[in-house]
Amino acid sequence: MYDNLVNLKGNRLIGKNVIVTGSGSRETGYGIGQATAILFASQGAKVLVVDLDKERGERTVNQILNNDGIASFYLADITNSDECKNVIDCAINNYGSLDVLINNVGVRGLGSVVDLDENEYKNILDVNLNSMVSMSRYAIPAMLENGAGSILNMSSFVAMRSGGFGPSIPYALSKAGVIALTQQMCHDHGPDGIRVNCIAPGHVYTSMVEDRVDQKLRDLRRKAAPLQTEGTAWDIAWAALFLSSDEARWVSGVTLPVDAGLLTASPISMLDKLTS
Ligand SMILES: NC(=O)c1ccc[n+]([C@@H]2O[C@H](COP(=O)([O-])OP(=O)(O)OC[C@H]3O[C@@H](n4cnc5c(N)ncnc54)[C@H](O)[C@@H]3O)[C@@H](O)[C@H]2O)c1
Repeated sequence: MYDNLVNLKGNRLIGKNVIVTGSGSRETGYGIGQATAILFASQGAKVLVVDLDKERGERTVNQILNNDGIASFYLADITNSDECKNVIDCAINNYGSLDVLINNVGVRGLGSVVDLDENEYKNILDVNLNSMVSMSRYAIPAMLENGAGSILNMSSFVAMRSGGFGPSIPYALSKAGVIALTQQMCHDHGPDGIRVNCIAPGHVYTSMVEDRVDQKLRDLRRKAAPLQTEGTAWDIAWAALFLSSDEARWVSGVTLPVDAGLLTASPISMLDKLTS
């Protein structure tokens, strides 16, 4: 049930209007935004799927419609602040109000401080961090029309530990910024009824990583965390569902690792598992 949503139906998000950025679908595998959009729709939410790739976005919408859910697609590059405003306007036009924003878009960015490409570095910060500021800037006033709202920002364990694809200063910094953004927004907008939380996924096997993770690395990623099992986009989506639903009405400002316990481990503590 937890990694396969065929025929799943529930009511945990009935009445909620939701935006999920970067929720397009590749042809194979599942992305975190895609799984989140599908799971939320299966729980009664009306979902605006946002992506800069039309084919991918429409693929997710069709998956939701085929499961009797409600969804529509908006084509946008959310590094453009004006387009972020248009996304919010579209959600209001389509569904009447906005309850939940999932700031999911993120792309990898490699390089050490010595060899990173400065333009690419700025671009990664725009995509992974500044886009969340722009989306939230326009989402919060719309949520206040309802008197409440929930924003969930996607960080990464790489905000707190070095990752596995070589030096990645742009990615790590942007994802660390997402945690600070979450805490500050929680503080600033909590009195108005806006909850802001964050998820830090671990080594998740998604469509984003499948083209650069061979079987050996896939096994190592699994063995690096205490639970010794592989995480999928659905594992992140289930956590996102809790944090975005009214079940979490008293939860704000947290960064929830969803990582099979990865952040408790060190290379030495996992040595016997990694070498077995
Ligand atoms: N996959 C992992 O192991 C992992 C681990 C930690 C954190 N994360 C984070 O989870 C989030 C989702 O990752 P994923 O694996 O599902 O990625 P993904 O590549 O499968 O999906 C990302 C989507 O975002 C879209 N997108 C990219 N730039 C955009 C822009 N400027 N405007 C609009 N859409 C844009 C892409 O077209 C794509 O459909 C990211 O923030 C990522 O950093 C992933």
